This record gives sequence, structure tokens and C-alpha cells, in this order.
Amino acid sequence: MLFRDKANQAAALADRCCHRAAPLHMGTVVEVGLQCGYHGLIFDGSGRCVTIPGQSRIPDDARVRSYPVVEKNQLVWIWMGEAAKADPASIVDFPFHDDKSRWPNKHDVYPIKGNYMLMVDNLMDLTHLGYLHAKTVGGNPAAHVGAEMKTTRTPRGLKFTRWMKNSVPPPSYVKAAGFTGRVDRCQEFEFVAPSTVLQWTGATDAGSDYADPQRDFRFQFRLFHGLTPETETSCFYFWSVANGYRQNEPETTEQLYREIAPTFVEDKTMVEMQQARLDEFGESGLVDIASDANRMYMRRMVERLIAEEQSALAAE
Ligand code: FES
Ligand SMILES: [Fe+2]
Repeated sequence: MLFRDKANQAAALADRCCHRAAPLHMGTVVEVGLQCGYHGLIFDGSGRCVTIPGQSRIPDDARVRSYPVVEKNQLVWIWMGEAAKADPASIVDFPFHDDKSRWPNKHDVYPIKGNYMLMVDNLMDLTHLGYLHAKTVGGNPAAHVGAEMKTTRTPRGLKFTRWMKNSVPPPSYVKAAGFTGRVDRCQEFEFVAPSTVLQWTGATDAGSDYADPQRDFRFQFRLFHGLTPETETSCFYFWSVANGYRQNEPETTEQLYREIAPTFVEDKTMVEMQQARLDEFGESGLVDIASDANRMYMRRMVERLIAEEQSALAAE
């Protein structure tokens, strides 16, 4: 269970009281920590019991497991492994969350009844935009399938840029930026293993002069996508959207959020239905197509990291 103590410090404790195993999330935050909702034991953020009603002696073993947490760029990161191996330096950078004047943003979290990798798959193959998101951010399916794409591998994942020059803007772009004709559209995605995707998306009037899209495009936004596994067949989808245009109008952030939120519900619905079919029929007989290249690279990378971690644990 996650809580913020009275000093505003985030902490994560195993959701089981060391007295009679009550779930701690049913407790209450008090001055010195988290009070169990059953018989009132109080634990600090490190999981140590600091108060036992009716006795002054606190046994050493009166503690619950705590997990290292770090707050960075408006996100709480938890390390569920061996505490000594937690490495804050490996946490993804997303400074845009803190730059509210240049990148005003709004976030949400969707619980998804699907394996977290199905959502990462979704973000690695954007040919789905023209079909699944035809009504929102889609546009012409052929433009997505035929997009000019450049992929580079990074030490912790991959980056890809997709260009759709001289294309018809999707309805949500027209609403946000008032495009009247065709646009040059560009998307940049960075996958950071195992399950974070950082996105920049922009468009500008086709044929206009620009050197660097991220600097010069008149319409642009950024998305943070973070998948946290819960079980083999469920996860949490943390996402935020930041508008890099009309930053002085708070309504702009709201409007972009309202455009994008239903798009991600479309992804969630598809992934949940996929999971249901996988549960029923398994994975055998599925084929890979050309647009799966980045997705497959991503999967192999995560599988390799899992295998390395498992063999390191076995060796210990
Ligand atoms: S179970 Fe938590 S105080 Fe008794
Ligand atoms: Fe999608």
C-alpha cells in the first residue's frame, strides 16, 4: 500500500499488518505514520512499528516490509525487488512534467485487464492508429502504414521517428490547431525497457519552413506512457499529456486530454479483448508482419532482461 505521511513523504508498505494480517490500506494516516485500521498499531514509512496501543515495549520484529520509493517528475517509482539493488539513477527522465509553463499537463491512470506487454506492443506499432483510432487521432490508415520510419537502438531500448508529410490532419488536430489544409506530421517515440514509452507528436502546415520539428512545429504535444504490471493478466496504465502549444490557455490542456482519453480507452478495450482471446486460445498460430519489427525488438529486449535477472537470482 502507498501512502504519504504528514511530512508529505511517500512510502510503500506490504499490505499486511504484522499483528493480525489486516490489510494496511484499510488504515489511516496519522502524525507519525500509518495506523492499522484493526487494533491501531502505527508504522512509519520504513515499516517499523512505532506505537502499540496498551504497551510501551515495541518488539524488534514488529515491522512490515517497506519498498524503496522515489518521487521524480511528478511520478512515484517503487522498487519491488531486493532493496539494496534499487538504483534511482536508472529512473527515466521526464522533466516536462515539472515545466508547467512550457508543457502544461494532465495525467490519468487506467486499470487494464491485460498483460502489461500487450500495452507496450500497442505503443510500438502505430499502424493501429488508422484503424482503431479512426475517429480521433487516426487519419488515413494508408498514411500510417506507409509512414516513413527511422528506428535507432539505444542501450535501454529504441527510438523511432515516423513522418507523414503532406497528410490529411485527423479531426483532433484540426480542433486543437485549426489546420485548414494538409499537414506535415511527425511522431517520435522512445521505448525505455521494460515498460516506459516517451512520446513527442507534432504537426505543422504542409510545406512550411522548419528545421527542427520539436522547435518549429506550431502544434505539438508530449505523452508519457508507463505500464506497471499487477498480475500476469492485469496492469496499470499511467499516462499524461502535455500541450506544447497555446500554453497560456488552461482550457487547451483540458481539451487535449478530453481528445486523447477516449483514444486510450480504445487501446484499453482492444488489449482487454486480446487478453481474453489469449486466455482462451493461447499464443500458438499467431503470425508476425512487417509492422511488428520494433515490437519484436522490444519483446526480445525485455525477455533478455528478465532472463538475466532470473539467472542472477538463481546464482545467488
Ligand atoms: S491487525 Fe493490525 S493492529 Fe491488529
Ligand atoms: Fe492506440
